[in-house]
Parts: sequence; structure tokens; C-alpha cells
Amino acid sequence: MPLLDILVYPAPELKRKSLPVEELGEDLECLLDDMTETLRDADGIGLAAPQVGRNIRVLVVDVPLPESDEREFYELVNPEIVSSRGFQVGEEGCLSIPGFFANIRRKNHVHVSALDRKGKRFTIDADGMLSRVLQHEIDHLDGILFFDRLRRLKRDLLVKQINERFVSAQD
Ligand code: NI
Repeated sequence: MPLLDILVYPAPELKRKSLPVEELGEDLECLLDDMTETLRDADGIGLAAPQVGRNIRVLVVDVPLPESDEREFYELVNPEIVSSRGFQVGEEGCLSIPGFFANIRRKNHVHVSALDRKGKRFTIDADGMLSRVLQHEIDHLDGILFFDRLRRLKRDLLVKQINERFVSAQD
């Protein structure tokens, strides 16, 4: 299983809305395996397919449980937030925007419905960190990056700093 290249902002794939998966099979299963390996190699907690250049609605999350050696690992195909409630604010970063962090307001609790790699539907009731990561990764499937969730002034300031780092560096 090869490691995949994680695209870095401002890669255009990161701003695209991803399409639902319509065909299950070996290609999807390989992608999921490679994404998980890539996520763990990068020491991350979530990775969405557009971050590895595939604009399809697929993501993996691998979130450590507090005060435990265990992790909550899920592969989600065509995930949807069915319901949500409450709010939380917490710091977020992104493997595609390395070195930048911001406090982002998210729903506290989400109920997510998705397909597994074999096409079987399952649901996750999440709060805390898992809920935050799921919302961050599902945003990736809609071309939304964490800074897009900031209020205008904060967003503009952070995007300016990010652009200075990643966009001007390309020239
Ligand atoms: Ni991200």
C-alpha cells in the first residue's frame, strides 16, 4: 500500500465539491487503505479524499480516545450529517494547511450516516473531538477549509498569512 501525497493549499482540488461514490469495489477499498496509511504516517486524525486529489465523498478519521491508548477509527463513504445540536469551540489545524491553527466554532454533537467500504449503512453519534473531526472532514468534501468557518475579519487575516506562506512561495 503506497503512501499518498497530501495536497497542500492552494491546490484547486481542495476547493472543489466532491461527488458521491457510486461504485464500490477494489479501487475504493485500495483508496481507503492508502488513505488510512497516509493519515497515520502524517500523525493526523482525519483525512478526506480531495486532500489526496480524489474529489469523491470518502474520508477516514482516527481519533485518540481521551485517557486511553485506544482510538476511534472510521471509514466513511458518502457521509451526511443527519442532525446536530449545541456548539463547541476548539483549535483546528489541517494536514493541507500545515503550521496554521485557529479556534473554530462547530456543532457539539452530530449524528452522521454513511456507508462502509462494502456499502452497508451505519451511523455515528459523536461529540467532542470526534464530532469536530467529522465536521472538518465532511467540510472538505464540500470544498470548505477550516478558515472558511471563521468570521470575516479573522478569516481574511488568516488567509492573508496562509497565502503569504503558500502562494507567494510558489512564485
Ligand atoms: Ni483538513
